[in-house]
Amino acid sequence: MTNDEVIRANTDNLMSKYWSDAIKRLTPYVPGEQPKESGITKLNTNENPYPPSPKAAAVINGFDTAKLRLYSDPDCTQLKDSLAEHFAVERKNVFVGNGSDEVLAHTFAAFFQQDHPLLLPEFTYSFYPVYCNLFDIAYQQVPLGDEFKLNLDDYSQPNGGIIFANPNAPTSRAIELGEIETLLTRNTESVVVVDEAYVDFGAQSAIELTKRFDNLLVIQTFSKSRSLAGMRVGYAIGHEDLISGLECVKNSFNSYPLDMLAIESCSAAIQDTAYFEETTQKIISTREWTAERLSELGFINLPSKTNFLFSRHRFLEAAELMGYLRSKKILVRYFSKPGIDNYLRISIGTQEEMQLFIDTLEQHPDLLKL
Ligand SMILES: Cc1ncc(COP(=O)(O)O)c(C=O)c1O
Repeated sequence: MTNDEVIRANTDNLMSKYWSDAIKRLTPYVPGEQPKESGITKLNTNENPYPPSPKAAAVINGFDTAKLRLYSDPDCTQLKDSLAEHFAVERKNVFVGNGSDEVLAHTFAAFFQQDHPLLLPEFTYSFYPVYCNLFDIAYQQVPLGDEFKLNLDDYSQPNGGIIFANPNAPTSRAIELGEIETLLTRNTESVVVVDEAYVDFGAQSAIELTKRFDNLLVIQTFSKSRSLAGMRVGYAIGHEDLISGLECVKNSFNSYPLDMLAIESCSAAIQDTAYFEETTQKIISTREWTAERLSELGFINLPSKTNFLFSRHRFLEAAELMGYLRSKKILVRYFSKPGIDNYLRISIGTQEEMQLFIDTLEQHPDLLKL
């Protein structure tokens, strides 16, 4: 839907006479399907196929429910301290929120309402423009290069902030740390946000750079590499002035965004490095295996540093393939946006799930003919 169509649809809605004007012009983000039926192989929302760390599970299973009578710690000190220790920063450099989506929302509100537009890649996490509309932030989409390559030289122009995901989503490509450092050296007057939701699957984190550049904010999540999407916890690392900007927004919105279980289980999860390494390595090797099988079946995959592949077939249309897989109870993500509308975004599941995915594709009537 275009924005005008959304305004019209929202205005036609019977309830809309009660809506404020600002809400009538919003185009909400549409998350990937969370099916209610059983027997589905879910490769559509980049969740981790492995359970959370046994140490996090032990915290949840042993949780004393009597404690829930009280509010959770509004400062989330235990979790901030665990994150600070893990990333060798101080507590004052850490912000936590209800999923990195909430951390992102506060980031947009805190830093990006400026005279110049926010710069973001043309194809990236589609929640960014939604936040721009919500907070009335002007933005400019910067085209990606060949095969969706992010070129940070294109961001050397007046701006009210810069945000990109590294690795980018849904394109799965990563850029080198040196490129981010060069951007930061040139861009000193606005906040640069690197969304590292997928960084643990083979890319380099920019967290070290936050110690040298006070305008860099790095955002990560427990939803992907830590297998805790359902717990809804994300965090940001940056200079204390940026963190206190985020705290200012958070404390003007919700004092207690994380519940006790989230604080305690994520604190245990971040400390379990052995389990984290084992599961991320398994996902990386299954990703490489899946990419090879897909190439043999005539797919072209972008080089992925994430827990998903962004792939198109040489002859078959992505929308048709998505429908075929759906009919076989396998969900993958498809975006109808021109420019990426012939690609499928395929989350990496267990080796068994990916074997089923490949076996199912091999049974596609048009692939059998090739
Ligand atoms: C690039 C990117 N950033 C942020 C998020 C939000 O993750 P969460 O709110 O689960 O932390 C996602 C979710 O898929 C994502 O793809």
